[in-house]
Amino acid sequence: MIGIIGGTGVYEITEHGNDVEKKVIKTPYGNSPEISLFKLQDKDVAFIPRHATGHDYPPHMINYQANVWALKKIGVKQVIATNAVGSLKESIGPGDFVIPHDFIDFTKIRPSTFYDNRTVHIDVTSPYCENLRNHLISAGEVVDQGIYVCTEGPRFETAAEIKMFQILGGTLVGMTGIPEATLAREVEMCYASVCMVSNYAASISPDKLTIAEVFDIMEKRKHELVQLIEETITNMPYDGDCPCQNALDGAEVI
Ligand code: HPA
Repeated sequence: MIGIIGGTGVYEITEHGNDVEKKVIKTPYGNSPEISLFKLQDKDVAFIPRHATGHDYPPHMINYQANVWALKKIGVKQVIATNAVGSLKESIGPGDFVIPHDFIDFTKIRPSTFYDNRTVHIDVTSPYCENLRNHLISAGEVVDQGIYVCTEGPRFETAAEIKMFQILGGTLVGMTGIPEATLAREVEMCYASVCMVSNYAASISPDKLTIAEVFDIMEKRKHELVQLIEETITNMPYDGDCPCQNALDGAEVI
C-alpha cells in the first residue's frame, strides 16, 4: 500500500479515489487521525491528514509518531508527504514544487524516535528515499533537490535565523518535515516529500508574513500538487526493492 501524509491543501486527493473507506488506527502513541483508504489507478492508497482533520494541531503538537506508526501498521511501504515551506532562495518562488534530498533539523521539543527503550542508530546520510524521489521528479515540473530546514515553530523565523539557514546551505524552511521523515526510516518505509513553496522566507520577502498568503498559494496550486502525486502513484512500482525497507540492518546495538 502507498501512504500519503497530506499537509494543508491536499485533502481533496481522496475525492479522486474509488471506494473510500475511513479508519482510525490505534497506536502506542494514541489514535491516528481518520485515515482514508481508497484505490487510485488500481493502487491501494492510504491518506492521512497530518494535522488531523480541520487543521487542529499546530506543527509542534502534531502526533508524528501516531501518524507514521498507523501507516506502518496498515501495511504502507512507501510514503509520499507534502509540506508547505518558505523559500530561502530567490530562484525558487511561491508556487514552486521542490523534492528535498536532505534536511537540517532545528526542532526542539518533539518526540523524535520510536526507540526509547533500545539503542537504534539508523543511517540518514540520504534521509529521503532516492527511488521515491526519482518517481516524483519524473512525474512533473519540480525542482529536483533542496535542503529542508525544519524549525520548531509555531512562529515564523527572524531575519537573522533566515540568514543563518542560508549560510548553512538551506533551500527551504518549514515546520512539519521532521521527525516524520526519520520516523518513517525507523520503521523501514520509503519516504519522500513534495514541498510546496508558499512564500519567500522572512526578510527575503519585504512584507510581513501572513498565514493568509500561505493558504492562498496552497489553494491556487493544490490541483497541480494532487496531479503530481497521482501521476507519481500511477507510474511507480508498488513495493520497490529499496534499501529503505532494510533500514534497521546494522542499526541496532545488540
Ligand atoms: N517558515 C516556516 N514554515 C513555513 C513557512 C515559512 O516561511 N512557510 C510555510 N511554512
